[in-house]
Amino acid sequence: IQPLFISEKLTDKKNIPGLGDNYVLNIKDAIIQIENDLKNNCRNFLLFLIPEKKNDLDFDLSFHSKAISEIKKIYKDNVFLWADICLCSLTTHGHCCLFDEKHTINNEATLAALSKIAVTYVDAGIDGVAPSDMMDGRTNKIRESLDKYNYDLTPIMSYSSKFASNFYGPFRDAANSAPTFGNRKNYQLDYRNRNDALRASKRCAEEGADLLMVKPGLYSLDLIKPIKDQTGLMVGAYQVSGEYAGITLASENNLLKLNDAFHESLHVMKRAGAQFIITYGARKSKELGFSV
Ligand code: PBG
Repeated sequence: IQPLFISEKLTDKKNIPGLGDNYVLNIKDAIIQIENDLKNNCRNFLLFLIPEKKNDLDFDLSFHSKAISEIKKIYKDNVFLWADICLCSLTTHGHCCLFDEKHTINNEATLAALSKIAVTYVDAGIDGVAPSDMMDGRTNKIRESLDKYNYDLTPIMSYSSKFASNFYGPFRDAANSAPTFGNRKNYQLDYRNRNDALRASKRCAEEGADLLMVKPGLYSLDLIKPIKDQTGLMVGAYQVSGEYAGITLASENNLLKLNDAFHESLHVMKRAGAQFIITYGARKSKELGFSV
């Protein structure tokens, strides 16, 4: 699965330091990118939609809907589009939630906003939703809302074991989603706590997730098999921006060969049992002879 960053305010594509041939694109350039990716047998995408204006009360999702429907109108079932569901690129403070006064998380309001976003995306034509916010009960609430609108066949790929990781740096730069205060440790998982990480995935499974994920992928290989054994669901790995940038930047400094190192990293995730992989190099994985 290839991530794509699509931004409302860009006229030209924007470089993302550390992520090689990944750019932040406007809708028009994203459509061209997908056309090229299809030629490389890459048809599964994870969209990160970045609106121009931020807001903490009432989210205007018209840009999001436009991006999804324009891509779907052209490529129809030739592409499978996942969309990341989160609030961090929408809010002024860059957190994945809404707050009460004194910055306590308002879980109920957050879940209502997340499920509204999910339904809006499916209305626009998205094929599957991927909640990445890590709020309590989101998978259940999103499933309930989708079902209510007769979207019971739309799959949920939950970011189920997602750590408060040091490896999301290049992404937050691209998605304009870094928190303006504090950090995400109140809602993302503590990487020292294995049991909590397993419990988080089990809980997403119980709440109705269709696919589960470990993230950062290369740093969570040990969890893939136990999660699969305990839930019976498909479990994938997200090779995150900081992990991918490590390889890219080392190769730019002639310390290793990009494609060879990337190929190895894919096989490591596969060897650990990943049944799907989200990576910034997905578009070149087929040319390297790799499939999961
Ligand atoms: C949004 C989100 C993040 C990533 C995916 N969805 C950032 C975060 O949680 O801070 C990170 C992906 C990457 O680093 O490649 N919540």
